[in-house]
Amino acid sequence: MKIAPSILSADFAHLARDIQTVEKGGADYIHVDVMDGHFVPNITFGPNVVSAIRPITKLPLDCHLMIENPERYIADFAKAGADILSVQVESTPHIHRAIQMIKQQGVKAGIVLNPGTSVETVRPVLADVDLVLVMTVNPGFGGQGFIPTMVEKIKTLASIKKEMNLSFEIEVDGGIVPETAKECWEAGATVFVAGSYVYRADEPAKQMEALREAVAY
Ligand code: DX5
Ligand code: ZN
Repeated sequence: MKIAPSILSADFAHLARDIQTVEKGGADYIHVDVMDGHFVPNITFGPNVVSAIRPITKLPLDCHLMIENPERYIADFAKAGADILSVQVESTPHIHRAIQMIKQQGVKAGIVLNPGTSVETVRPVLADVDLVLVMTVNPGFGGQGFIPTMVEKIKTLASIKKEMNLSFEIEVDGGIVPETAKECWEAGATVFVAGSYVYRADEPAKQMEALREAVAY
């Protein structure tokens, strides 16, 4: 399994420290939640924050764009140092073009499905992506409860992945704690975003260890 702590739950006044804590604790990616106050009712960081944190960690920056008109900002986030750029499929009528634009920047391309969006919607582009992120909460805020019906959706996606003989990562995001991580792992998820579970504890390394123990991998 790969663990991607979300800095949405970090202390923004000590971002460098909090990123280095999870890097030392064995994180695989740093998950960066970009929100514009339009696509979701919350505002977070832009490309300037991505370029500020780029030099302080060796970990891949997994940037989750929850913004309208994502095509306008793809080049900016790539130049800022994003390693993975994931776009919400609901945020653009041209998801295929957005994926092409991400790849042209030499960055890994991901697509994100809100809880109400069906896997069938993205079947035509699955062969073009490196990662599919299944939202297990409605995007916008950390600390929300996992939506249990998303487990079935992960299973559907995993079976399509097998049927099409593809190798994209299946990432889950929202309400991830040991119990929900186990369910998602068994359903086929490979990358686990965790914000409040990792950061709202004295020892983020122990929290990540508990997630690994839950899936025993
Ligand atoms: C929600 C974000 C998540 C969030 C997860 O819109 O995409 O990455 O940080 O937070 P937790 O793990 O607290 O549910
Ligand atoms: Zn996220």
